[in-house]
Amino acid sequence: MPRITKKTPDLDAFCSNYLRQWDKRATVRNTEPYVIRKSDVRTYTIPPMMQPLTSEPEVQELGKAAVRTLELQTFHNFLDDIARGEIDGVTVLCGRLANDEFSVSFPNSARQVALTVATDEAYHAFIARKYMKEIETVFGVEPVDLPAKKSLIDCALAWVETKAPESLKQDFRVVTLCFAEHLITHELLDMKRDSEPGNAFHHVLSEHLTDEGRHQVFFEEVLRHFWTGLTEKRRKQIGELLPEFLAALHFGWFPGIIDWNKTALIGLGFKPKRAARIVKQCYTRLYEEKSSKKYDSPIVAHSESLIVRSEVSAHGPTRKLLVDTEWIRP
Ligand SMILES: [Fe+2]
Ligand SMILES: [Fe+2]
Repeated sequence: MPRITKKTPDLDAFCSNYLRQWDKRATVRNTEPYVIRKSDVRTYTIPPMMQPLTSEPEVQELGKAAVRTLELQTFHNFLDDIARGEIDGVTVLCGRLANDEFSVSFPNSARQVALTVATDEAYHAFIARKYMKEIETVFGVEPVDLPAKKSLIDCALAWVETKAPESLKQDFRVVTLCFAEHLITHELLDMKRDSEPGNAFHHVLSEHLTDEGRHQVFFEEVLRHFWTGLTEKRRKQIGELLPEFLAALHFGWFPGIIDWNKTALIGLGFKPKRAARIVKQCYTRLYEEKSSKKYDSPIVAHSESLIVRSEVSAHGPTRKLLVDTEWIRP
């Protein structure tokens, strides 16, 4: 694979500063984790937008205890996504960045930062499993028994493995890492904004976001360095596949969450057919409320902001394609 080493004093300066601050700011170094308590169940555990099924009349008819169980199952599901995705996806890809395995080389400081991110993420997975255990012991609610579903990073990586040309697979891994880290941070910020201050879910998000805000800025710098360091030929090749890649990242997880929700409703006592109908009617309504343009979706708009800020859209042919496919605004 051709390697292009580009001098980028900005990324190096940014990363050197990052490394100086990491010891003082990283959660793994400085934070005593929250402990979930019995009193946490008195307030809503998760924001309503995280589990739209709790607003379905047929679910509400089951009573408050059943709705609370569904909320705690959803809390488990959120933590399970973190426990798996941080390890299988982010930590592994950070290792590739630390080993400088992409067609654009990175300064040593950036490769060291990648290892601090891997450390942060492994700790997030560790803490997520601790909280899952506490939900089980404090509230007596176990996770829904279902084979692991695919998170957004799993879906993007599955696309890379099965659809990306062999010669571009490795480079699409760093693209996956940058987009996934950007989206995860925004997702957590949105959930924190909608959660009730002081409750367990809010504490869990605050701890996680202490590290993720820092990661998000780093990966924006990583994507800019990578994109601007590519040869024009390679930039064009990657750009041509970005719409397909973005579709896998943004929409690939949908069938998995539908299956998970059906299983959760069956666990509450619904017959499988009725559970499937309730989930379908809930998600159809949510989907229909959304605008027809992709970039009008708040989640897609987060990726659009990364595309613009990291200068991916400064490349004419890529910009035209992303505008034509509605991933970014004209
Ligand atoms: Fe994380
Ligand atoms: Fe992160």
